[in-house]
Formats: sequence, structure tokens, C-alpha cells
Amino acid sequence: MRQTRGVREIHVIGIGAGDPDQLTLQAVKALRSTDVFFLLDKGEVKGDLIRLRRDILDAHLPAGSYRVVEARDPERDRKAGGAAYAPAVGDWRGARAGIYERLIAEELDEDGTGAFLVWGDPTLYDSTLAVLEEVRERGAVEFAYDVVPGVSSVSALAARHRTGLNRVARPVQITTGRRLAEGGFPEGVDDVVVMLDAHQAFRRFAEDDMDIYWGAYIGTPDEILVSGPIAEAGPRIERLRAQARERKGWIMDTYLLRRGSARDGRGQDRPARPR
Ligand SMILES: C[S@@+](CC[C@H](N)C(=O)[O-])C[C@H]1O[C@@H](n2cnc3c(N)ncnc32)[C@H](O)[C@@H]1O
Repeated sequence: MRQTRGVREIHVIGIGAGDPDQLTLQAVKALRSTDVFFLLDKGEVKGDLIRLRRDILDAHLPAGSYRVVEARDPERDRKAGGAAYAPAVGDWRGARAGIYERLIAEELDEDGTGAFLVWGDPTLYDSTLAVLEEVRERGAVEFAYDVVPGVSSVSALAARHRTGLNRVARPVQITTGRRLAEGGFPEGVDDVVVMLDAHQAFRRFAEDDMDIYWGAYIGTPDEILVSGPIAEAGPRIERLRAQARERKGWIMDTYLLRRGSARDGRGQDRPARPR
């Protein structure tokens, strides 16, 4: 008799941006239906991020009920800018697709369920979904996948500062530090959330009528929050950022830039409440 082959299933699970309590009930259900967890180590001083994932597993699953497979994420050429940026990201994704393909094919039974635990929300500045699509297109291993949304660092930032992201009926844009540095403040919006900013692109707006709501390591015991007019808050953020980076060896920060808040009287309304 012919045996029916199962289909490998993958959950892409958003785990929140640092606070283990941000894990949703949907995420916990997905964790409980997973046999093998794939943890990708970035190879940087980010052991803390792997540790948080392990703590989440320990907190929600009985010991011995699951397997963890760790793999090294390939390094990306971070110096490539301008026209070289997209090809560098493409090469990196290709290298990751090779690793994911091997993990799924070799570490997961044909009817098994695997999971990738993605920082924040998997749909925001994360390449796991694009990489999985690339693996499917290669066609060497068959699998189905679903996505469990997570609390993104953007939501966490706004919540910790107790501010909305947009003003009434106005748009808000999410962008990267690289784009802000290269292209300036985006046209047509006054509220811009900036992620992945290694160079503190906000400094170029020090002379402008603009507020900043900044957060580093949001949701973790190391969290730092600063808000206020950029001329005053900017230098303080630079100092705190440099000290924190020195102390921990890495930093993750996100900020909201709000233009013209002095004009509408909504600037720096509420300082963030200390944890
Ligand atoms: C590769 S992106 C991942 C974003 C993630 N998918 C999310 O939904 O938040 C990494 C960037 O997210 C932001 N980030 C993630 N976690 C953070 C945290 N706990 N505190 C501050 N910023 C954070 C930083 O801007 C960092 O450079």
C-alpha cells in the first residue's frame, strides 16, 4: 500500500520586541504545536537575543517536548551602500535561503512542524518571509507556512511613550536610518518612525521644529526612553546611546520624529512613565 506523505509545516512566530509578556496567546498556541525550533544566531554580540528566545520556550513548553536547532546566520555586507545595497541584500538572502532549506529538509520530519521565532513582528523589516518564499521557489523541499503576528518595536515604542503614531487623520511613515540620511525627511508626512539607524540620522534635524520619541532595548530591563524637542533631547540621546552601546556591545533603538508639534500644541505632552 502506498503511504501518504505528510507536508512539513512552518510557523513564523512574532515573539514581540523584547518583553516576554508581549507574546500573544496565538503565539503560545503555535509554540505548543511545534516540534523543532530553528534559532538563527547572528554571530554578533547578540547572545542576549537567542537567550530571550530560549527563555520563552522554557516558560511555555514542558522540558523535553521540543527540539532546538541553532544555525549561524550568514554575515551581510553592511558597508555596501547606494547601488550596491540591493545586490548585497540579495546575496545575503540567497545564502540564508540555502541554510533554511537545509534546516527544513534535514531537521524536520516530512510530517513535522517547525518554527522560526522572529523578533517583533515578522512583517516589519524582517526577511524571514522573503527567505522562505525563496526556498519554496527553489523547489528542493516542500512545506507550508503561516505567520503569527507579534508586537513590533514600533508599537512598543509608541506605547512606552504613551503617544499615538499618527496625528488625527494624518499619515505616518516607517523608514530606516539609511533612507532618512540619504533622502532627508520624507515628503507629505509629519510623523516618521525610524528603525535600523546605526548613525543617528536624527542629528541632521537639530535645528528644526521637531520632537523625538526615542527608545532603546524597549521592553527589556535595559530599556532607555527619551522624548522632547530634538534640539534638547538629541544630544542626551547621543550620550546615552554611546554609553549603552559601550556597556552592552550592541544597541537596538527606534524613534518617532514628529514635525511641527509646537505649532499644534501637541509636543511633549506626556513624559514616559518610568517602569
Ligand atoms: C531587523 S529590524 C526588526 C524589526 C522587528 N521585526 C519589529 O517588528 O520590531 C531591527 C530594528 O528594530 C528595532 N527594534 C527591535 N527591537 C527593538 C527594541 N526592543 N527596542 C528598540 N528598537 C528595537 C530597531 O530599530 C532595530 O534596528
